Amino acid sequence: MKNIFIKIRNSIIGFLYRNIFKNIFFKIDPEITHDRAVQMGRILGSNILLRKITSFFFSFSNPILRQNICGITFENPIGLAAGFDKNAEIIEIMPSVGFGFTEIGSITGQSCLGNLKPRLWRLPKSKGLVVHYGLNNDGAEVISKRLIKKNQQINKIPLGINIAKTNSSDIVGIEKEINDYLKGIQAFLNIGDYLAINISCPNAYGGQPFTDPDRLNLLFQEINKLNIKKPVFLKMAPDLSFEIVDKIIELAEQYHISGFICSNITKNRNNPKIILEEINQVPVGIGGISGKPSEEMTNNLITYVYKKTKGEKIIIGCGGIFSAEDAYKKIRLGSSLLQLITGIIFEGPQLISEINIGLCNLLKKDGFKNINEAIGIDFK
Ligand SMILES: Cc1cc2nc3c(=O)[nH]c(=O)nc-3n(C[C@H](O)[C@H](O)[C@H](O)COP(=O)(O)O)c2cc1C
Repeated sequence: MKNIFIKIRNSIIGFLYRNIFKNIFFKIDPEITHDRAVQMGRILGSNILLRKITSFFFSFSNPILRQNICGITFENPIGLAAGFDKNAEIIEIMPSVGFGFTEIGSITGQSCLGNLKPRLWRLPKSKGLVVHYGLNNDGAEVISKRLIKKNQQINKIPLGINIAKTNSSDIVGIEKEINDYLKGIQAFLNIGDYLAINISCPNAYGGQPFTDPDRLNLLFQEINKLNIKKPVFLKMAPDLSFEIVDKIIELAEQYHISGFICSNITKNRNNPKIILEEINQVPVGIGGISGKPSEEMTNNLITYVYKKTKGEKIIIGCGGIFSAEDAYKKIRLGSSLLQLITGIIFEGPQLISEINIGLCNLLKKDGFKNINEAIGIDFK
């Protein structure tokens, strides 16, 4: 009975979003829409009544989706990817919207205004976004203090802290860059459930310096000295050659990194999924692409990493998840957890519970009693 109510509820909200709200939102500048959505999340998360009402409209739970990963309990595998809640402003509302976990950031050692506007574009027909924010955020010190002030009891879902290098021409050179990462990490040693080290932002000054294995080795050496007591994940780009991925995996094993987020946005515009007339309106060479155009690349990376690590590292699959089927595919390829942003923008916030309900059905159909039995099943 409860499930029938949730299905009807989701159908109504989904219909309204896809046919009315999305048309309105897509007429407004994408960054303004993003800012308004964060503002709305802040308001809805601000008191218990609004959180309960939100929960009535969006939540769903089922024990088949519950997992313990690295000692952390995840009620469902769907998380908000880094980049939507850059400054930890809306963590309170995330459980009510149905998420199983949330990742804030990317947060950098110093506060940063990011790149010049415009810096976010929609690709409606390609079902993607071009992102060129350039790591705008309030900085590690302010955000860590904000989190300490917040009532940690409210946030009942695991919290990931995504750390990147400050996008600044002042922070160049290996020593300064590593110290910047360390400053970011140190501010959150006692906050949050896991750390994500973002070595894959395509929009920061200096490109993607820490995908270079020698530089990554030096970064890991210093991070290792911090004696971090929570799981650490590495966020990779989908554009890396498998040769580089091999070296990154080797280092991750050497330094006991818990796993990988596969993946960040792609720089590659030579992709049949991208409609040329849309991408041609975005300045050449700028930004990275999220959503459907990145889906296949991320699936290939998940497959590669899962096989290479023999399933021994945790994979958080991310890129182009728009449905339960998309999510299930990433799980079967080796992802233990999943993250998304673009799917919600295109399909609506009820997508989280639609995916979770759909996952339950797909898991049951294939005879699994818990989601963890399906992880990497395509290769077992
Ligand atoms: C608006 C926007 C901002 C993003 N900012 C960040 C960021 O600051 N740090 C990061 O690691 N990833 C960032 N990403 C990448 C996402 O976390 C995710 O890896 C990517 O969008 C693929 O997922 P999706 O197709 O579900 O959007 C951003 C993505 C979007 C759409």
